[in-house]
Amino acid sequence: MSFVPMDFDPFTSFGPEVAGRYDDAPRGDEEVAVARLATLAGEGPVLEFAIGTGRLALPLAARGLRVDGIEQSQAMVDRLRAKPGGAEPEVVRGDMSTVVLERRYPLVFIAFNSLMNLTTQDDQVRCVANAARHLTRGGVFVVENVVPDPMYRLERRAGVDQYVQVGGVSATGVHLDVGRYDRVTQRVDKSHIRISGGGITTNALALRYVWPSELDLMARLAGLELRERHGGWCGEPFTAGSGMHVSEYGRPVTVR
Ligand SMILES: C[S@@+](CC[C@H](N)C(=O)[O-])C[C@H]1O[C@@H](n2cnc3c(N)ncnc32)[C@H](O)[C@@H]1O
Repeated sequence: MSFVPMDFDPFTSFGPEVAGRYDDAPRGDEEVAVARLATLAGEGPVLEFAIGTGRLALPLAARGLRVDGIEQSQAMVDRLRAKPGGAEPEVVRGDMSTVVLERRYPLVFIAFNSLMNLTTQDDQVRCVANAARHLTRGGVFVVENVVPDPMYRLERRAGVDQYVQVGGVSATGVHLDVGRYDRVTQRVDKSHIRISGGGITTNALALRYVWPSELDLMARLAGLELRERHGGWCGEPFTAGSGMHVSEYGRPVTVR
């Protein structure tokens, strides 16, 4: 047996049901993330790839910055629009690897592993190039992503790498994250499964793992270089134990 990708359109993963509960459980690092992004943005404007429900974009805009976004899911944009201040960001519906806006930005960012929503290396390379295209000369491109850890949690069964992770257990239900990983393409097909008295729901998601080193090469292909890498939004050192990274890229500074 070998890995067979799920037969579904990954663009459907962020539909009305997911969008409706997306902001129910905040991650908790929004304030520090927004503080760091605002520092990098200066006077702005700011462009967020995969702006979603505006979890970071709206607090940034509330600081007086112009924030634009690219987002493929109408349901996520609808949620953004329904929030206080949600009418403000200019959001273009489409694919962040191909949509090109006219404006140039001192800060372009992509948060919460959204780069991995592009499920091929080519698409991720195109996306990083597209981010670089939107930067002003001294602009910064920020990527927040997990450090993939398949070797630690995968179990190989019948030639396929797979895992089951407990996302939460409560008196009223459980939340499981169930996935399969393809070593060849670095694709992960997963489902978030919620079991409660009300029934069972599944939410399919396809991702492509990207390691920090591979991302650095994608950035180089786009004419950018790594300026800083931290293990979180507070400037934590990036170490072998870091589960995530916040990486900042810019154009190489030429020395005369
Ligand atoms: C995990 S959510 C992150 C949303 C938001 N950036 C945040 O930090 O809360 C991923 C988002 O990426 C969007 N997305 C996935 N693929 C995309 C693509 N190719 N172009 C634009 N948006 C995309 C999804 O619709 C979803 O809103």
